Amino acid sequence: MRLKNKIALVTGAAQGLGAAIARRFADEGATVIVCDMNAEAGNATVAAIEGLGGKACFQLLNVTQEQSWIAAAATVVARFGRLDVLVNNAGINIREPIEEMKEENLDAMLAVNVKGPFLGIKHAIPIMRRGGGGSIINMSSICGLVGHKYTTEAYTITKGAVTLMTKTVGVRYAKDNIRCNSIHPSTVDTPLVQILFQDPKKKEERLGEVPLGRLATELDVANAALYLASDEASFLNGVALPVDGGLTAY
Ligand SMILES: NC(=O)c1ccc[n+]([C@@H]2O[C@H](COP(=O)([O-])OP(=O)(O)OC[C@H]3O[C@@H](n4cnc5c(N)ncnc54)[C@H](O)[C@@H]3O)[C@@H](O)[C@H]2O)c1
Repeated sequence: MRLKNKIALVTGAAQGLGAAIARRFADEGATVIVCDMNAEAGNATVAAIEGLGGKACFQLLNVTQEQSWIAAAATVVARFGRLDVLVNNAGINIREPIEEMKEENLDAMLAVNVKGPFLGIKHAIPIMRRGGGGSIINMSSICGLVGHKYTTEAYTITKGAVTLMTKTVGVRYAKDNIRCNSIHPSTVDTPLVQILFQDPKKKEERLGEVPLGRLATELDVANAALYLASDEASFLNGVALPVDGGLTAY
């Protein structure tokens, strides 16, 4: 069990990558605090974990609100007394190119994708420090590493900010044995992508740019998060880890 006895908080864990990470962490012995604004789906993630014999609980959290983080941190301390792993996964993407982007949509993306992880780190660090250390994992994207014609400027701004915030946190809090790394997936295989791929030209375009010739799976990303969360990665700090089949390698 690679996360035995560890307490892990995962944001945006009601569905998608966050739920996959929560399930994978629980498989490896972690107790997972499943955080999301969507209580119904979040509780379903918890039930799925418990159904397989894992340990999890749901915490309502809006990552954009500091009061919500304060409440979540207080619950973690009261229930578990420590926090070993924080995964800042919650993110949104409003797909408007720069000339069409509405100001309120830009603000919404900055709030969830940048302010969210910022506040999460702010409130996790004191708990991790008291516990002797921890691992923070921020979900960025290939769009936080390189420019890309299929993305938008707003998404790139938010994910690029996460990449560099990760490095500064990793440098500043290493003295407290807190590591901070980011994950950079290429497009993940989801029902939405499969709809896009009904157009064979789009499918060829997208897969053609990936040296390994396929989409990422939720498990590919969850396994990368598992590694960074575990003690196997105890000397990895400030790393931007692509999970992209080599897409950003050329
Ligand atoms: N899916 C991909 O292809 C892909 C690729 C690269 C990076 N990412 C990143 O991975 C992360 C997860 O992506 P996904 O595809 O699983 O997303 P998703 O839309 O399937 O799930 C996101 C979850 O975040 C929650 N959420 C949204 N706003 C929130 C808020 N303010 N507070 C708390 N929870 C909130 C939603 O309720 C939802 O459960 C995001 O940061 C995304 O940018 C995704």
